[in-house]
Amino acid sequence: MSIKQLENQYFMHTYKRGSLIIKKAKNQFVWDDKGKKYLDFFAGISVCNVGHCNDFVIKAIKSQVDLYMHSSNLYYSPVQIKLGQELAKKTFSGAKVFLANSGAEANECAIKLARKWGFLNPSKAGKRYEIICFGNSFHGRTMATTAATGQKKFHEYLKPLQKKFVFAKFNDIESVKKLINNKTVAVMVEPIQGEGGIFPACKKFIKDLRTVCDKNNMLLIFDEIQCGVGRTGKFYAFENYDVKPDIVTMAKSLANGLPLGATVASKKCADAFIYGDHGSTFGGNPVSCTSALTVLKIMNSKFLNKSLKVSKYLFSKLELLRTKHSIIREIRGMGLMIGIDLSISGKNIVDYCLSKGLIITCTHETVLRLLPTLIITKQDVDAAIKIIDEALTNLHPKLAA
Ligand SMILES: Cc1ncc(COP(=O)(O)O)c(C=O)c1O
Repeated sequence: MSIKQLENQYFMHTYKRGSLIIKKAKNQFVWDDKGKKYLDFFAGISVCNVGHCNDFVIKAIKSQVDLYMHSSNLYYSPVQIKLGQELAKKTFSGAKVFLANSGAEANECAIKLARKWGFLNPSKAGKRYEIICFGNSFHGRTMATTAATGQKKFHEYLKPLQKKFVFAKFNDIESVKKLINNKTVAVMVEPIQGEGGIFPACKKFIKDLRTVCDKNNMLLIFDEIQCGVGRTGKFYAFENYDVKPDIVTMAKSLANGLPLGATVASKKCADAFIYGDHGSTFGGNPVSCTSALTVLKIMNSKFLNKSLKVSKYLFSKLELLRTKHSIIREIRGMGLMIGIDLSISGKNIVDYCLSKGLIITCTHETVLRLLPTLIITKQDVDAAIKIIDEALTNLHPKLAA
């Protein structure tokens, strides 16, 4: 049986997989089972930010594997504690960290922490538990994070959903204000909506959210699982907004391909959790933590500034494509998190690019999503733009100017 037939027979059909069969990956490239090389502008959904199988990451995790691969959270693991210290220092003074295995788990922790904090900090009407989320958002696939996700397609068949997540309009502060009541404890938002089609929040909106949360003694939670860890040219996306949240969540690229999620909370709310309130057997795995510590070392300001330069170059080339192809409605994004919104479905374009050795994906039917590794060069940008241009021209010649 072929690998596709085996997958079809033995796996639950939860993923619509592309035709690519991956054999190996290095830096910004991936090779398939036939030895064909691809330029990867997807990085495993914004995961391998410092490049696939980064040499420094490999060296570090190999030495950790030789020491120990698991340590119960009932004991101390030096690499885990070191990572917590580094993340806390990077975020806000007095910050405290919880380490999990995935993005959904990091958000689950944020939701639980907010609810516990709302229990300890009630309004006159009693404990507070309601969380304001946003239409078009995505926060994960556990039951609570699905309920917090503002896209109906993820809610199908799962009702009754966990209650007390309410939805405001993204980038509309008045819609947030209207939802606040004496049960509201937090606002949870992606600074750049990823799965929703790459929509960056406006600067004023994020600033207004901070003001509204402060005024009403509510927590501001940023889900930076897709847009964080260098993706926007800053370590945190919120650094582009000059606003600090009370809780920030990360996962995906934190350990550059090994499972790790982190919830970092300010002093104001972190101490709401006490022994026994939350936990995870694997959370903060020592090999994943070693990888994350190496990622933090690599991702210094020189590294991030270099990725920003390439981002500027990529945006300028995409703008030229937009003027050439009327099929492109809009180019959106920040840093190396970019959406190309088309007036038609993007599936054929994605398939064409793959056949020419470029990995991109499509979200929300019409948005080509570019999430390359942060180590791509201008030459890589030229190669990618040539293929996308060719795809748009060949597949939709009448729509090219
Ligand atoms: C913004 C955001 N939050 C949460 C998640 C869930 O992360 P995970 O798949 O690691 O559970 C994702 C995944 O795409 C995401 O983009």
